[in-house]
Amino acid sequence: MTLRTIGVLGAGTMGNGIAQVFAQQGFPVILVDKNSQQLQKALATIEFSLNKLAEKGKLPDTTPAEALANLTTAESMAALAGCDLVVEAVTENEAVKTSLFQQLDQACPEHTLLASNTSAISLTRLAAATSRPDKVIGMHFMNPVPLMQLVELIRGLQTSDATFDAIHQLSERIGKTPVTVRDCPGFVSNRILMPMINEAIFTLYEGVASAEDIDTVMQLGMNHPMGPLKLADMIGLDTCLFIMQVLYNGFNDPKYRPCPLLQQMVDAGYTGRKSGRGFYHY
Ligand code: CAA
Repeated sequence: MTLRTIGVLGAGTMGNGIAQVFAQQGFPVILVDKNSQQLQKALATIEFSLNKLAEKGKLPDTTPAEALANLTTAESMAALAGCDLVVEAVTENEAVKTSLFQQLDQACPEHTLLASNTSAISLTRLAAATSRPDKVIGMHFMNPVPLMQLVELIRGLQTSDATFDAIHQLSERIGKTPVTVRDCPGFVSNRILMPMINEAIFTLYEGVASAEDIDTVMQLGMNHPMGPLKLADMIGLDTCLFIMQVLYNGFNDPKYRPCPLLQQMVDAGYTGRKSGRGFYHY
């Protein structure tokens, strides 16, 4: 199976990072978002990131200009009709993703593989919304995508070996390290990461220590590159809350209950870096 032209649906933080890594490895990429301002912002972010990588000698096989030339943008899903693979990276809302998968199924030719960058939603359910469930798979990239090595490959119950093998090979071609994960709430990454972040929020909520001190404990005491509260701000507190709810409901286990402070922060619109305020001010 040759995967050449790559579509990315959703030009937010994850979508623009995913589009960038494919473009910098020489793949023609079509980045689609219904919001033209979001597309402009994504192009500026990608250009900034490519220049940073080039300055540091981390773009050995191409130049920022060549990588950008591989990238086109569009506001309609119809532009994805020539793609061999579409990676969906829209907001973490199951109803939205399910509807988009149904539309992608209509818009793309029969051979096109459909991947989701979801951090927690069941791939088996997304696949079941299409007429090609064997060609649906999870490709869960980590933020910031251009810098992080891992991609979690999630097999829905229906994902075929041919789809899995093609996506595994492709992940290696774009310089990532794929791991194989069965469809299960939170997969592996968020089943482990999110309860740690949620516990850090409980620690703050109970007044055990300040946000800075909680982060310092994990950064200097456990050698994490950044503390859990700063990381939560980077991921987005709405996404963190959503993932905790998926774990809580998926396992029916109170150990995954989201901290009330996390819920309140989201209710207040303090969703982290992207809104200018989370556990820190930006
Ligand atoms: N492209 C290019 N360069 C980038 C970049 C990007 N997207 N993002 C950051 N950089 C650059 C910075 O501009 C900075 O450059 P300068 O040194 O020239 O200023 C450089 O990378 C280093 O960044 P920082 O100085 O800010 O800090 P750092 O050395 O700690 O590295 C980091 C940043 C890679 C993000 C590191 O802190 C880290 O690994 N943090 C943890 C990230 C993590 O856990 N990600 C997973 C989140 S979970 C997830 O994504 C999945 C989910 O489902 C929720």
